[in-house]
Amino acid sequence: MGSENKQKSILVTGGCGFIGSNFIRHTLQKYTSWRIVNIDALTYAGNALNLAGLTGNGRYRFVHGNIKDSSLLSDLFSDDHFDAVFHFAAESHVDRSIEDPETFIDTNINAAFQLLNSSFRYWKNKGKPKKFRFINISTDEVYGALRKEGDRFTEQSPYKPSSPYSASKASFDHIVNAYYKTYGFPAIVTNCSNNFGPYQFPEKFIPLMINNILNKKDLPIYGNGTNVRDWLYVTDHCEALIEVFLKGKVGQAYNIGAGAEKQNIEIVEAICDIIDKNFNKDNDSRKLINYVDDRPGHDFRYAIDTTKIESELGWKARFNLNDALFDTVSWYIDHQNWIQSIISGEYNSWLKKNYDHR
Ligand code: NAD
Ligand code: DAU
Repeated sequence: MGSENKQKSILVTGGCGFIGSNFIRHTLQKYTSWRIVNIDALTYAGNALNLAGLTGNGRYRFVHGNIKDSSLLSDLFSDDHFDAVFHFAAESHVDRSIEDPETFIDTNINAAFQLLNSSFRYWKNKGKPKKFRFINISTDEVYGALRKEGDRFTEQSPYKPSSPYSASKASFDHIVNAYYKTYGFPAIVTNCSNNFGPYQFPEKFIPLMINNILNKKDLPIYGNGTNVRDWLYVTDHCEALIEVFLKGKVGQAYNIGAGAEKQNIEIVEAICDIIDKNFNKDNDSRKLINYVDDRPGHDFRYAIDTTKIESELGWKARFNLNDALFDTVSWYIDHQNWIQSIISGEYNSWLKKNYDHR
């Protein structure tokens, strides 16, 4: 029996956000003997509706709580046996970090440290199980911006974060690596590029543009629209993380990307065309494009060299950008209620009725 078929118990943090909720759904569906506990503080970005389909699933448990709460973490670790911690919880939006850096330092460094230290104590008290893993989901933004055409981030690229968001993620990566080097704590860091797909909060570029087109609102493009991102479909990211857990080497970093580099303007035009051709015929959504002031410190280009994860772990992105973009647009069109409940704030009131706040 392959190791992936054996029972596993996983603690996920931030599982009610975009990537975490896709990860939980994907993993429970694919690995039918695995169990997941999800701790999420339900900040503005957390939406328990993202996992409403799992209500009644005996292999899933939701804990409404904050990773800075070390006594809650200690209860969780003493109640359960965990084979891994997948740490997704974060403040994740660059523009918000420019407006309010303190929240990013509090969550992405200080709260994350409580999680790391509690996980470390758990591992130590259990007799340092060899197969335990702490997977720290980080970002390619820690490497800063690429300028030269053809350049790509490798795991050896120096850390040069630009925004308070990426600086907070970079800081925590260093702390995680220090726990590996100093205590032998079996941690792995993943640095991945821009994700897109279902359940992404509509402040982020792709869902924002889809929603604005559907509502005939301006499409704000920062600067001249030539900034480049490497777009990774969220399911590809989830699959990569499982490979890192099952086969990755401790103390290592793995870059994750899809080799799908596009300028922002190219992505917006592609979304306009998908909607105009397939859903809102006779519209010219490109007319809504509106160039606005650039983001301060806006990183010009990200691109990922995936040689290491491909050669060591045998992972490669499967999804084609155009097809996955079409599926993503279709998902948002089919889930207008989901997006409306966020825009109206209704999703928060639903949560208040259904969960007691700790
Ligand atoms: P998200 O903003 O959609 O979700 C974050 C989740 O964390 C939310 O459910 C929120 O309630 C929860 N959370 C925040 N603070 C918490 C706390 N103190 N305790 C418990 N829960 C808390 O984020 P995302 O886009 O899903 O990103 C997940 C992770 O992946 C983040 O660490 C992010 O830095 C990283 N990442 C994201 C991308 C991307 O393109 N979205 C790319 C690379 C890396
Ligand atoms: O690269 C990984 C990172 O990708 C993650 O670590 C972050 O959590 C995630 O938010 C994302 O960061 P970006 O800043 O790249 O993503 P965002 O969706 O905010 O913006 C994508 C690009 O689009 C970026 O160049 C800025 C631009 N943009 C964004 C918005 C919201 C616009 O031009 N207009 C907009 O309104």
